Amino acid sequence: MAAVKARKKIHIETWGCQMNVADSERILQLMTDYTRAQSEHDAQLIVLNTCHIREKAKHKVISRLGRLRKLKRVRRDLKIAVVGCVAQAEGKRLQREVPDIDYVLGPAQIEQLPQLVKEQQQGTALGFATKKIATDTEAGPTLTGQFEISRFINIMQGCNNYCTFCVVPFTRGPERSQPRERILAQAQQLVHSGVREITLLGQNVNSYGQDLYPKGNPFVDLLRDVCAIDGLQRLRYTTSNPHDFTPALSALFAQQPKLGRYVHLPVQSGSDRVLQLMKRKVNVARILAIAAALRAHAADFAISTDVIVGFPGETDEDFEQTLALLAELRCSFVFSFKYSPRNNTPARRFRAQIPEAVKKQRLARLQQLQHNITTALNLAEIGQQRQVLVHYRSRKAGHIYYGRTVHFRPVRLVSEHDIVGQMHAVQITDANATALCGKLL
Ligand code: SAH
Ligand code: F3S
Repeated sequence: MAAVKARKKIHIETWGCQMNVADSERILQLMTDYTRAQSEHDAQLIVLNTCHIREKAKHKVISRLGRLRKLKRVRRDLKIAVVGCVAQAEGKRLQREVPDIDYVLGPAQIEQLPQLVKEQQQGTALGFATKKIATDTEAGPTLTGQFEISRFINIMQGCNNYCTFCVVPFTRGPERSQPRERILAQAQQLVHSGVREITLLGQNVNSYGQDLYPKGNPFVDLLRDVCAIDGLQRLRYTTSNPHDFTPALSALFAQQPKLGRYVHLPVQSGSDRVLQLMKRKVNVARILAIAAALRAHAADFAISTDVIVGFPGETDEDFEQTLALLAELRCSFVFSFKYSPRNNTPARRFRAQIPEAVKKQRLARLQQLQHNITTALNLAEIGQQRQVLVHYRSRKAGHIYYGRTVHFRPVRLVSEHDIVGQMHAVQITDANATALCGKLL
């Protein structure tokens, strides 16, 4: 019998946004000589896919690298790659400070990883590829997803908005969209292979296509075309900046049931003064008008959001206005963060930086308010009938399944049969702060 050559193993750790999740899946697709390791201990290649959005995210990576260095001392064959936004922003410094790193690649260079690994094996290259932010779109959209039936398609990279707190335009570069035909072909192929839910990804997803198709509303056209794919049950997208949220985009929810009744719309603050300092290019009235338009179509339309507390210059009064906005919006979920100064960004140099203790206090107050809102909204679901798309089956208890309602609320279900990928009418029987329980009808 011919000996089967053992394949090398790769272990990937992913921090940060869904774009990074998408990039990690892409790396797995690219590294055809490797299979997935059980853990870092049986891997020959460890990839840290990093996030630079807040200081804390960066520190986590650095401390993780510290532990991996020790592993490398006893495992001579082990290679370490740092990819993603920390690599882009601090690649050179990192490689100087942690010489055990073998490869450093920014988000736009991940396509080069197989080549770098090959060249280093031949002893010709030091794996370093963060110098420029690539502007090509040759790689094609990335396909990924946590569950077989629900996948992400990365439809654009970068952002042109330069909000004063945000490092993304520096780490991910300017907006570059994938051509519409390529995205459609990928979406069709996914649905053909059994995928039922697609999420279109971009840092600023609703400005999709401004670079390629400056006339008309390319994002709306794309959504319409993807919705038309037979067999697709749900289409989502993230993250949508309110600035680029057009009336045509809100109107589309009424025309395309596959879009569901949910959107993620980061507001960041409820104070016009702070929004202006952040250069968000929208005011509270505009945010409320978008919410009103969505809820005119469906009164129960669910909105989730992101909020930053303790932006430089944020007064108690500004913060109260943020709480007031959240009380009015009644979001299904809020991702809330303490402001974290980032390199290159203007807000880092603003005077009136807010003391850490004040940020902490504000964050706790905001989270308490939001906890009460999320819980109340979940409890109000008890007794309702909802269409649930079933995403996966519990690994621990085989008869337990998890899905999402049309408002994107997580639901736990019990079934004797395999229901993954199916859309089911469900009676909501119970709820808590994080999820709903339901009974198949
Ligand atoms: N394009 C999106 C934001 C993507 S970044 C938008 O238009 O809002 C994801 C989230 O991280 C942001 O919404 C913001 O709430 C948070 N964030 C970004 N930079 C931050 C910083 N310097 N400090 C704290 N939170 C930050
Ligand atoms: Fe960042 Fe603002 Fe773009 S938050 S990703 S610069 S829209």
